[in-house]
Amino acid sequence: MYRTHTCGELNLRDTGKEVILSGWVQRSRDLGGMTFIDLRDRYGITQLVFNMETDAPLCKEARKLGREFVIQASGKVRERSNKNLKIPTGGIEIEVNTLNVLNPSKVPPFTIEDDTDGGDELRMKYRYLDLRRNVMKNSLELRHRMAGEIRKYLDQQEFIEIETPVMIKSTPEGARDFVVPSRMNPGQFYALPQSPQIFKQLLMISGYDRYYQIVKCFRDEDLRADRQPEFTQVDCEMAFAGQEDVLNTFEGLAKHLFQKIKNISFNGPFPRIAFKDAMDRYGTDKPDIRFGMELFELTELTGGHNFPVFDDAEYVGGINAENCAGFSRKQIDNLTEYVKRPQIGASGMVWMKWNEDGSFRSSVDKFYDQAALKKWAEKAGARKGDLLLILAGKRVHTQEALSELRLEMGRRLELLRDDEFAPLWVIDFPLLEWDDETTRFYAMHHPFTSPRPEDIPLLETDPAKVCANAYDLVINGVEIGGGSARIHDGELQKKMFGLLGFTDEQAKEQFGFLIEAFTYGAPPHAGVAFGFDRWVAVFAGSESIRDVIAFPKNNAGRDLMIDSPSELSDQQLGELGIMVDEQGTEQ
Ligand code: AMO
Repeated sequence: MYRTHTCGELNLRDTGKEVILSGWVQRSRDLGGMTFIDLRDRYGITQLVFNMETDAPLCKEARKLGREFVIQASGKVRERSNKNLKIPTGGIEIEVNTLNVLNPSKVPPFTIEDDTDGGDELRMKYRYLDLRRNVMKNSLELRHRMAGEIRKYLDQQEFIEIETPVMIKSTPEGARDFVVPSRMNPGQFYALPQSPQIFKQLLMISGYDRYYQIVKCFRDEDLRADRQPEFTQVDCEMAFAGQEDVLNTFEGLAKHLFQKIKNISFNGPFPRIAFKDAMDRYGTDKPDIRFGMELFELTELTGGHNFPVFDDAEYVGGINAENCAGFSRKQIDNLTEYVKRPQIGASGMVWMKWNEDGSFRSSVDKFYDQAALKKWAEKAGARKGDLLLILAGKRVHTQEALSELRLEMGRRLELLRDDEFAPLWVIDFPLLEWDDETTRFYAMHHPFTSPRPEDIPLLETDPAKVCANAYDLVINGVEIGGGSARIHDGELQKKMFGLLGFTDEQAKEQFGFLIEAFTYGAPPHAGVAFGFDRWVAVFAGSESIRDVIAFPKNNAGRDLMIDSPSELSDQQLGELGIMVDEQGTEQ
């Protein structure tokens, strides 16, 4: 028997018991005639004690143990004189009588502590050691509990989990596919699913009217803190259901998770905001509504004052930083630098202060008199003591920059609390997005998204104006999930493919099976998929989804631990009929 108890369960009630524990040496301390060892496993830490006076050989053995040695110790539980009230086992210690080294350990490359000295790269290379740390363990346990609660809730709602294939044909979710060569079909490739989108729609046609799956998805796109090349979705679909059914069912799921995992209840429905309003009020389709500081527009007030930057701008707008008129020159310059960063891309920033004495001061005083500035203040809903920060340029681009500035001000003014959660639905997305470069429309969500029925005639006349029955769940500024009511009519689906620039042949080649399936009795259906990693990260208060994934990839898409991706042997390449362009790989 390796152990009678774990390292997290013994306490004063167990005093006097003979026990066996196994685990890792967290640290050891020699104090006078005693040696203390903190023994760690997944469940906690228990103190072992060795006494030089009563058992010198055993104590000498204990002194040889290094960090992360795997040991087994038998002994008696006794009350500790110097109690550690911070941990559940802190009232007791084990007076060891037998010690067994199960496996020694090299000195770990970084300390296995909450505050580790290991940098990102090192911890990724030795991820199996990083996972021994409490923070990582807590994240993975949280992830496990969330998955369990999701299954429980969906099970109660009659959803069934069905697995869909991983080696498929391209799915149109807007990213590049990862592909797998087929040895049996030389020159042909499988694509890994960007999502199970098509399969879940086919399952609806098959009659499985409530489907879900906690499933890996793969997308070859530029990586960020909230993006991994392989990530997990909670993917769901419902038949005989529309947008309202999906929003209600999955708002229920979100509330269930908040309740069970965070012990937070939400009274009343989550707020809903139309895409256009989200852009006008927050400059983004994933607003963080934990704080106000909404955008205001000044375009109509700023023209005709011989200030070319504003005269030529499609949009002039700003945010009101309340009670910040006292900001120094340096603080404002610093914010100007912030918005000029390439990622944000503003060309400059105008400011206006409403001083306590009632006067206005602005970086563009030369062009705007007090009466004009007063109008700005009124439009911004400002009060004395407030500071307006204003940007100008193309509408969407400027709103997006203001969104970043708003979040930065939220951070600087400490308005974003970690323990506060503000969920909302963003609805009424446009169906299509125009791309100037390729001069064609793209599906804003994906090509199977249904237009709002009342907008269908606009598909012929003004497609850019068509709204979709599509929705996103946003929590604290993070897009947690998205979905839509689907097209279930073959003709409408064909029209959609046409708008997206597919010829009939191309549509047939890529999605012929789906178009055909629609001709065999497709029920109305709608669905949603949640980014599970993102949801766990938001609940864990983590900045990056990497912190809630056991074995993630770095920003270059590499797994530093197993050193992947890697080259194939000539034999493997030969079997697959693949020739690697050396030039290409060296670039
Ligand atoms: P969508 O593409 O919006 O919708 O994806 C759903 C959710 O998945 C998460 N997500 C990601 N998480 C981590 N890394 C990534 N690279 C990544 N990409 C997306 C986001 C996102 O909201 N088939 C549709 C859903 C549907 O219509 O039912 C889909 O995949 O949280």
